[in-house]
Amino acid sequence: MTRIARWLLSLALACGMQSALSVDPAAHYAQHCAACHGADRLGGMGPALLPESLERLRASELDSVLRDGRAATQMPAFGPTLAAPELQALARWLRTAPAAAPQWSADAIRASHVVMHAPGTLPARPVFSADPQNLFVVVEAGSHHMTVLDGDKLAPIHRLATRFALHGGPKFSRDGRYVFMASRDGWVSKYDLWNLAYVAEIRVGINTRNVAVSDDGRWVLAGNTLPRTLVLLRADDLSLVRVIDVRGRNGDVSRVSAVYDAAPRHSFVAALKDIAEVWEIPYADAAGKPLASLAPRAIVLDDVLDDFFFDQPYRHILGASRSGGGQVIDLDQGRKVASLALGGMPHLGSGITWELGGHAVMASPDLGQGRIPVIDMQDWRMVAAIPTNGPGFFLRSHENSRYAWADAMMSPRRDTLQVIDKQTLQVAGSVTPSPGRTAAHVEFTRDGRHALVSLMERDGAIVVYDAATLQEVKRIPMDKPIGKYNVFNKTTRSAGTSH
Ligand code: HEC
Repeated sequence: MTRIARWLLSLALACGMQSALSVDPAAHYAQHCAACHGADRLGGMGPALLPESLERLRASELDSVLRDGRAATQMPAFGPTLAAPELQALARWLRTAPAAAPQWSADAIRASHVVMHAPGTLPARPVFSADPQNLFVVVEAGSHHMTVLDGDKLAPIHRLATRFALHGGPKFSRDGRYVFMASRDGWVSKYDLWNLAYVAEIRVGINTRNVAVSDDGRWVLAGNTLPRTLVLLRADDLSLVRVIDVRGRNGDVSRVSAVYDAAPRHSFVAALKDIAEVWEIPYADAAGKPLASLAPRAIVLDDVLDDFFFDQPYRHILGASRSGGGQVIDLDQGRKVASLALGGMPHLGSGITWELGGHAVMASPDLGQGRIPVIDMQDWRMVAAIPTNGPGFFLRSHENSRYAWADAMMSPRRDTLQVIDKQTLQVAGSVTPSPGRTAAHVEFTRDGRHALVSLMERDGAIVVYDAATLQEVKRIPMDKPIGKYNVFNKTTRSAGTSH
């Protein structure tokens, strides 16, 4: 011990800092939390606890989890063990990044890989009689489950546990047999819907945004925020192919906002959060012949774009920047071809398209104000702004429905969905499944006849409506159903839903 350290220690003891020392949150973490959440905070039996992991947890929620634990889970209450200031210090410490940036190497990824059923070992036919093209998977965030729903009978056929906090929407293989999920903490899982069984799992990162599956069924690409990587996997058994560092032309690293499969282009597209670039990773040539090397091509932008909409041919990206500006990027030319004068905070990622007066138009919710901007896809001009109850998150329709459904999730009217006539651009009706309780995220059955709405509460439900009459047909209880995905609408890239 140096002289100064010894002096500091004696001073601390002399000043009666015993109690101050016991507020050391790192020591409390090591003693009370590390066994479940990992000494390195990367997770274990419990989830990862880094600032990125806790981004979506409100301050009050973090406080109450530490104090009261989580009912019906392994997370204990620490109110009885630790004093309020100690819990506060612990909460602050969890929001602080560790001194050394956490690592997740290719070796760590490989070591996490588990294959439950090798490719080709399970029968290639469904174990149930429901139409496999009209299945829904419903993500129940409350207790981390997924329900497989028969879209004809509108009844569950199976319920399975998932990894903690699925992120970014599950993705289907083109034949609809497999569903690929990403979890917040970096787990990618492959599930066989026909056999109702997991087939493989791998942890690709510490904090992950989402996955995309190539249209040819060969590859899965995952986008991470921690570390700053894209991870390419073989789709058959999820084995690691390559880790791609996300580093821009100027040398800066970037988090990934989202990855997409641009099926008509035979490529993946990655939206990047910190650098003004979009990356495209072609996996086949124009004739669909697989490429040997999947090398990223960077398209340089004027501004960072981290929320995207693709037109139906995947030729153009409509992107919004955080400063509120919008750009149209032509992926063939690899450059910006127009500005979007949208204003507000359009949520382009939830955009949909349809035909209006012989033109393709695109509409998306606005996260900041109660309106739905509608854009002409030929000259990129805003042709209408439909007033709604309040700022919303999702907009959904179906080729066979005249209506688009909009929520007002970010407003006091979060319990009501408004139904917009796609030809008159007027609000034609509304539904309020349960007054005072959040209702959002609509998905249609394969034929467009029914619209399924999420009542996003712990004792929530999927509420099924007749899509033409807006009459309630059925209520199926669910534990915080945040999203639902119809095999047919997703695998055919319906214009009425985001992809
Ligand atoms: C016996 C195992 C165990 C111990 C010990 C434990 N936790 Fe947990 N913790 C869990 C589990 C499991 C969850 C996930 C609960 C759920 O499903 O929502 C969790 C959830 C959490 C969450 C919520 C994370 C989120 O994103 O919603 C926080 C924060 C948390 N724990 C902090 C702590 C802290 C701090 C300590 C120590 C003071 C601790 N935990 C000790 C098992 C544990």
